[in-house]
Amino acid sequence: MWLTQALATCVAVAARVQLAAAQASSSADAASTNSSGRPGAEFGQTSPPFYPSPWMDGSGTWGEAYEKAQDFVSQMTLLEKVNLTTGVGWMSEGCVGNVGSVPRLGLHSLCLEDGPLGIRSTDYNSAFPAGGTVGASWDRGVWYERGYQMGMEFRGKGIDIQLGPAIGPLGRMPEGGRNWEGFSPDPYLSGVAVAQTVKGIQDAGVIATTKHYIMNEQEHFRQAPEAVDYGYNISESLSSNIDDTTLHETYLWPFADAVRAGTGAIMCSYNQINNSYGCQNSHLMNYILKGELGFQGFVMSDWQAQHSGVGSALAGLDMSMPGDTLFNTGNTFWGTNLTLSVLNGTVPEWRLDDMATRIMAAYYFVGRDRTSIPANFNAWTLDTMGFEHPAAEADYGLVNQHVDVRANHARTIREHAARSTVLMKNSGVLPLSGEEKFTAVFGDNAGANPKGPNGCDDRGCDNGTLAMAWGSGTANFPYLVTPLTAIQNEVLGNGGIIQGMTDNFAYDEMTALASQSSVSIVFVSADSGEGFISVDGNEGDRKNLTLWQGGEEMIDTVTSQCNNTIVVIQSTGPVLLGSFNDNPNVTALLWMGLAGEQAGNSIADVLYGRVNPGGKLPFTFGAERSDWGTNVLYEPNNGLGAPQQQFTEGNFIDYRAFDRAGIDPTYEFGFGLSYTTFEYSDLTVTKHDVGPYAPTTGETAPAPVLGNDSDTDPADLVFPDDIRRLPLYIYPYLNSTDLEASSGEEEYGTADEDAYIPPGARDGGAQPRIPAGGAPGGNPLLYDVMFTVRATVSNTGPRVGEEVPQLYVSLGGDAPPRVLRGFDRLSIQPGRSATFVADLTRRDVSNWDTVSQNWVITDAPKTVFVGPSSRDLPLSQELDVSV
Ligand SMILES: *[C@@H]1O[C@H](CO)[C@@H](O)[C@H](O)[C@H]1NC(C)=O
Ligand SMILES: *[C@@H]1O[C@H](CO)[C@@H](O)[C@H](O)[C@H]1NC(C)=O
Ligand SMILES: *[C@@H]1O[C@H](CO)[C@@H](O)[C@H](O)[C@H]1NC(C)=O
Ligand SMILES: *[C@@H]1O[C@H](CO)[C@@H](O)[C@H](O)[C@H]1NC(C)=O
Ligand SMILES: *[C@@H]1O[C@H](CO)[C@@H](O)[C@H](O)[C@H]1NC(C)=O
Ligand SMILES: *[C@@H]1O[C@H](CO)[C@@H](O)[C@H](O)[C@H]1NC(C)=O
Ligand SMILES: *[C@@H]1O[C@H](CO)[C@@H](O)[C@H](O)[C@H]1NC(C)=O
Ligand SMILES: *[C@@H]1O[C@H](CO)[C@@H](O)[C@H](O)[C@H]1NC(C)=O
Ligand SMILES: *[C@@H]1O[C@H](CO)[C@@H](O)[C@H](O)[C@H]1NC(C)=O
Ligand SMILES: *[C@@H]1O[C@H](CO)[C@@H](O)[C@H](O)[C@H]1NC(C)=O
Repeated sequence: MWLTQALATCVAVAARVQLAAAQASSSADAASTNSSGRPGAEFGQTSPPFYPSPWMDGSGTWGEAYEKAQDFVSQMTLLEKVNLTTGVGWMSEGCVGNVGSVPRLGLHSLCLEDGPLGIRSTDYNSAFPAGGTVGASWDRGVWYERGYQMGMEFRGKGIDIQLGPAIGPLGRMPEGGRNWEGFSPDPYLSGVAVAQTVKGIQDAGVIATTKHYIMNEQEHFRQAPEAVDYGYNISESLSSNIDDTTLHETYLWPFADAVRAGTGAIMCSYNQINNSYGCQNSHLMNYILKGELGFQGFVMSDWQAQHSGVGSALAGLDMSMPGDTLFNTGNTFWGTNLTLSVLNGTVPEWRLDDMATRIMAAYYFVGRDRTSIPANFNAWTLDTMGFEHPAAEADYGLVNQHVDVRANHARTIREHAARSTVLMKNSGVLPLSGEEKFTAVFGDNAGANPKGPNGCDDRGCDNGTLAMAWGSGTANFPYLVTPLTAIQNEVLGNGGIIQGMTDNFAYDEMTALASQSSVSIVFVSADSGEGFISVDGNEGDRKNLTLWQGGEEMIDTVTSQCNNTIVVIQSTGPVLLGSFNDNPNVTALLWMGLAGEQAGNSIADVLYGRVNPGGKLPFTFGAERSDWGTNVLYEPNNGLGAPQQQFTEGNFIDYRAFDRAGIDPTYEFGFGLSYTTFEYSDLTVTKHDVGPYAPTTGETAPAPVLGNDSDTDPADLVFPDDIRRLPLYIYPYLNSTDLEASSGEEEYGTADEDAYIPPGARDGGAQPRIPAGGAPGGNPLLYDVMFTVRATVSNTGPRVGEEVPQLYVSLGGDAPPRVLRGFDRLSIQPGRSATFVADLTRRDVSNWDTVSQNWVITDAPKTVFVGPSSRDLPLSQELDVSV
């Protein structure tokens, strides 16, 4: 935790700057110039305002949860509602985030805990494979089951809200530090994966938090204060600048799927979008997320991503995390300030009611009223005894019950990682028989971290087998099965010889060992992570795309001696393969991603043929770093102001960029071999009569005003005598009946309301419905199935195997040459065939139209393609999209 503490001290200096900007959010929301027009992003581009913040209405499958939430909120007082929306402060309770409780109504303090691949900062939990790894399974069953098992573990520890899954970053740049937490830079693949994960987590009775909303694509400058650590003192965080079409067709797409799948929470991001902070951007939260996508759950801030009180409330934020302005200041934008803003009429009561209703609706939606148990761990220590309130150093006692929540998840973890392993090259040496005379295993990555699997805080190093990258999106390993151990078990079982060496730089010894072996297996890596940790000069984002720890030199040394060298890559994304890829002595090449606790067993299952590989690359391997056409912004480009990250490439990221530029990838998106072979035939397209698309029309109901808060007498809202006041703890109470004094805000009540309350922001009257909206996920007609595509896939090889047929559509016009729009993972017996079936929805064949602010099917000719990868599409047919 020391790293995070260090961060807290660094940020304190910048506090004043941010507080001064607190009420000025609406200035960042000024009228748009080019944000809704093609082409691309503009330097300093702004985000248009949208008010009022849409109130939830129980649409989709949220009706019952909405009613229960309304019943609950109707009984709540002003202070209780504020308590529910505001975190109690960094390290004030036992989880990485907690909100205030509502003792009068029997509601405990909701517990929020990281992260997307398992429970962070605890013990007796599983370490699941990373999102970016299971993305390569292209397997809906894997995603759901992983989500469900994670959810069960969170539930077992008493956590209400899991801070995952991640789909932002999407993966615009392969160097992006946190790409591995999400599934794939392809929005369609990412969308299916996140929807399955959300359903899995929530079926286990835990609220899923889909994050980070949105365009949090790089770590550099994501938070201005953090950049001081690597030498830049900028005044504001990075702005991701984007046009409306790219937003919809690429970055928002998987969020729409997450909302449609019912995600209970969304976390807004650190960065600005079109120069308005993610957690006070009314266009993105009010208009896009709650309006167009009909999101029914609640928006929470990333930790310290909130920059204003009134501004963020009116722009659609529903929960402040961790509640204090900056860690351990004892001050809050909400808490007391939110109570005051409602009392003095700056924030309308219906907006607070809507925040509380959304939080409680998510609670009921996933069944927390039936599945909740008291939290039995403490995120700030693994010791049994500790402070219940660590920030206040109060209440020493039993804080960790060490509840073992792993169940039989190890089995599926092993299986999921094996199913996610991608075989990129195989001259026929794989699968290994197990009867090789002399097996040599090379690489630091084959062995154990000398400091132990959890020896580096938040996995902030690249030592030992890389089964997880670094940052808050990590979990503690219960154990870590290394490849060396698993391969040794395999070879010893067969009576063979095996020797491993984990020093990447001992070239003489490496040469000697490689020259004796009949098969050499070399493990190499490339790591990355979250921006609060720097490893070997990588500030979260990778500084290059080559292998770490002398990986290439190691491979070259081994291959110079051994004509049967198998290379296994553990990495957070693509790496440049260098000349070894073409070396005939490299007889097989595999990508195993970040496999989790069973890493060694998973790769052994594939190497020795117990699992026939069926994974496909969820991103592109390219030959040159410049091939992707995007790059991390490593140096500020706007003086001391917010660095401007221009998304000028539009929709053309990853394979779409390679396809447009006609660049040959080393291994393309969707590629992956098997120990058997497949053939494709018989494409048929069936058209369904779905009728024309109709925009959503009409008006919403007026905002409901709920609750038992007619008592607005400040005398009744002051800190009660019978409650102990903990230092640094965030409360909803006033300090005195003098509102100004209670705020502690120098500018209290002085701002010209017309200047900082955006027009319409307090209007609780009926509002026009948004044409592309109408239900969670957007206009329900977008999901009408317009076509069913079928193709025959035959197993022409000797073994049972699994194949992922992929469906791409060319939408014509200036859209990418091909976009993924369907896939399935089929298990096929040798000599047999299976039918691939995929549905194409109206959304799948539409483009975003900035003028009508809706999806349209353009006149451009459209073609459907089916095949085993994005560059191998033997079947195609024109699509008749007329309706
Ligand atoms: C809008 O974008 C176009 C094309 O990039 C540019 O020519 C024009 O100057 C921009 N307009 C404004 C007001 O910035
Ligand atoms: C607010 O939450 C705190 C911390 O859980 C609790 O002590 C307090 O009683 C709550 N206040 C109200 C009004 O419910
Ligand atoms: C950063 O710049 C601000 C404004 O100029 C200044 O007040 C602050 O001390 C600087 N911080 C550091 C760490 O240099
Ligand atoms: C209210 O918010 C302001 C910033 O807008 C902050 O300076 C002040 O400390 C907050 N008050 C409380 C009681 O936390
Ligand atoms: C750990 O990894 C770093 C690079 O991330 C390397 O410099 C260091 O030598 C490694 N330590 C050990 C003990 O292998
Ligand atoms: C790329 O970065 C890694 C990790 O910091 C480092 O080990 C490697 O030497 C770098 N590659 C080049 C070509 O500089
Ligand atoms: C391949 O390995 C053999 C030893 O088996 C070696 O003689 C030869 O030079 C190697 N070739 C390359 C291209 O490394
Ligand atoms: C490697 O070289 C040996 C000796 O020349 C030969 O028997 C063997 O078939 C070669 N292996 C491969 C995989 O080419
Ligand atoms: C409110 O009172 C507490 C306890 O006396 C004090 O620590 C805090 O600074 C006060 N807050 C404001 C905004 O005056
Ligand atoms: C209302 O309260 C908020 C929060 O303390 C404060 O920022 C704002 O200035 C107040 N406005 C008025 C009109 O009193």
